[in-house]
Amino acid sequence: MAKIIDGRKIAKEINESLKAKVEDFIKKHEITPKLAVVIAGEDPASLFYVKMIAKSCERASIGFEKYSLPSETTEEELLKLIDNLNKNKKVSGIIVQVPLPEHINQERIQESVDPSKDVDCFNPINMGRLALGKPEFLPCTPYAVYELMKRENIVVEGKHTVIVGRSNIVGRPMSLILLQKKQYANATLTICHSRTNDLSYFTRQADILIAAVGKPEIIKRDMVKEGVVIIDVGTNEVEGKLVGDVAYNEVLDKVSVITPVPGGVGPITNVMLMQNTLRAAGKLVN
Ligand SMILES: NC(=O)c1ccc[n+]([C@@H]2O[C@H](COP(=O)([O-])OP(=O)(O)OC[C@H]3O[C@@H](n4cnc5c(N)ncnc54)[C@H](OP(=O)(O)O)[C@@H]3O)[C@@H](O)[C@H]2O)c1
Repeated sequence: MAKIIDGRKIAKEINESLKAKVEDFIKKHEITPKLAVVIAGEDPASLFYVKMIAKSCERASIGFEKYSLPSETTEEELLKLIDNLNKNKKVSGIIVQVPLPEHINQERIQESVDPSKDVDCFNPINMGRLALGKPEFLPCTPYAVYELMKRENIVVEGKHTVIVGRSNIVGRPMSLILLQKKQYANATLTICHSRTNDLSYFTRQADILIAAVGKPEIIKRDMVKEGVVIIDVGTNEVEGKLVGDVAYNEVLDKVSVITPVPGGVGPITNVMLMQNTLRAAGKLVN
């Protein structure tokens, strides 16, 4: 029978120990780790996400500050705000919510966040460090997958891991995390994307399959082998319901372990953002 991973339970456990560490930090340094979230415009998904971040901060005893800017904000104004937040010793971590209004150069903004406060790990310096196997921060979603795999004792070493998706937010950093020379990494990897010919040829070979595509149930029963471990990062809304990239009900009796959608990777992601914020706070006091 498949083991179904309970992401909500894992998130709660991580948060409990994190909250205790944050409270110790506050006692020791008399500073509350704080996350500054910058949002420009009124994108509904972004506004919702920012509310979720505020709740996660509250649950972890981390400070939260929201900077809401109108969509007409200029790039220079946004850069000025980020510069002030970079210099503000009371701000531990900064995230700039995307998408930004079209007239703003997203890359330039992401590069302007001080790498030591870049808790989303979007700054190329932090991505470069990760690529070299010396990460300062891990991007939150692949970090959540890595943490989940550690906690569930899913060992990739010696197995064939197939990642479907190569975005800068999920697939690509996921591959870099699993390539590290450390426990729960040392993966042998195949990375697939939209230009892969015959996707199922590769997915059928996977001992561990990580799906980060953003296409509802693109991974079907005949595309996976018996006993596979499936981590489904996809979150797709279909007729008002959230579904993953994997046809969950179809594959269930074939897999050994699977993460459901919702309730798998998703709940852990924001807790990893909190973990990164505490780490960033530590840099300001050392
Ligand atoms: N649970 C969470 O916390 C969390 C966080 C972030 C994202 N997500 C979800 O994860 C999914 C992926 O997000 P993302 O930001 O990485 O998306 P993305 O930027 O759109 O990237 C999707 C990736 O899938 C590849 N792809 C698209 N169609 C494909 C196909 N038919 N066959 C094989 N590969 C294909 C793309 O290939 P190309 O590179 O060739 O275009 C791309 O690399 C989405 O459902 C998103 O909502 C979940």
